[in-house]
Amino acid sequence: MTTTHIVKLRSSEKQFEANIDETVLEAALRAGFVLPYSCRTGSCGTCKAFVASGQVDYGVYQQQALSDAERGQGYALLCRAKARSDIVVEARDVVAAEGIDIKILPCRVAKMDLLSPDVMGLQLTLPKNHSFKYLPGQYIDILLRGNRRRSFSIANVAGQESVINLHIRRVPGGEFTNHVFTELKERDLLRFQGPFGTFFLREDSTGPMIFMAGGTGFAPIKAIIEHALAGNVSRRMHLFWGVRARRDLYMRELAESWALASDQFQFTPVLSEPLAQDQWRGNTGLVHEAVIASYPDLREYEIYASGPPPMIEAGRPAFRTRGLSSDRFYFDSFEFANDQTQVGNPA
Ligand SMILES: Cc1cc2nc3c(=O)[nH]c(=O)nc-3n(C[C@H](O)[C@H](O)[C@H](O)COP(=O)(O)OP(=O)(O)OC[C@H]3O[C@@H](n4cnc5c(N)ncnc54)[C@H](O)[C@@H]3O)c2cc1C
Ligand code: FES
Repeated sequence: MTTTHIVKLRSSEKQFEANIDETVLEAALRAGFVLPYSCRTGSCGTCKAFVASGQVDYGVYQQQALSDAERGQGYALLCRAKARSDIVVEARDVVAAEGIDIKILPCRVAKMDLLSPDVMGLQLTLPKNHSFKYLPGQYIDILLRGNRRRSFSIANVAGQESVINLHIRRVPGGEFTNHVFTELKERDLLRFQGPFGTFFLREDSTGPMIFMAGGTGFAPIKAIIEHALAGNVSRRMHLFWGVRARRDLYMRELAESWALASDQFQFTPVLSEPLAQDQWRGNTGLVHEAVIASYPDLREYEIYASGPPPMIEAGRPAFRTRGLSSDRFYFDSFEFANDQTQVGNPA
């Protein structure tokens, strides 16, 4: 019986072997190729690709990520699909993320800071003899018992490779995030796997950039912006940060300091439910609407968005109607883990 199939990438003629029990994405990562992906749970649609020839098992996924019509036209989600014959897929390989090992590492909770009533800043330190490389904007999975995992974006730039900062929003009824707020202590040990994802600065581009963060979606965007500013990237940048009330802008001074330090950087906070005591005179409403109000024509822009799935889902079609090319919309949708459909270990 055949236990492996060949997966060919039509755009680059690259190819790799996929075991019949691993997804196409897992096989690509194992072979050192990075294809566009984010959630790895069949929820966000980032890994959607056209299967030009051959058969796949489509796996378990959410309809919002792949409609029946798209499936009928030959598309599949590579984070869920398994090859059932040799296949050819149309997926760009993301060369900038190649050569970075996905590792499982232990880490210690060095510091915990309550950044807002429902956001905890965690500083994790890594063992001294282990290196951990990532691109600013990527995320890690905290590993829980029973092969379960929870994804969180790295909020600091690479370079400080022995430290990882996370911004963790407390989810009502959420198992891990409530553990963080009620039981986790400084010096506790955790295990994580990473880095994952293809949400990072596209450095080969020169166009102006809009960043749209929702809540703790600020975390990966902070890392990307700090990386861009440190590298003297001379592109125009405008950060829109949407939260409910003023107290949720948990690093507002930092974002304001970027705008003060650089003429090419603008910052617009947007509150969806300002409180009376906020005395807010700034932008209100949904953050993607604030983006469109400032930039009705998005043809020359790149947008980097991260945060709650409804924000990404509202922004994507709205930006498209304003001329944003879909291959210049980069996003991490903060899907929550589906413990029943976890993917295996690509390391
Ligand atoms: C690529 C990626 C990066 C992420 N980065 C971050 C980050 O930097 N900071 C951060 O705070 N979060 C981030 N998230 C979201 C985070 O992974 C989830 O909030 C987390 O897994 C919740 O874990 P839990 O065990 O507390 O909740 P669970 O016990 O898994 O969930 C309990 C219930 O709460 C609800 N729920 C859980 N999470 C969410 C959610 N995010 N939105 C709405 N409802 C939810 C669901 O109904 C779920 O059934 C990211 C997600 C992804 C996919
Ligand atoms: S649906 Fe595959 S990466 Fe999100």
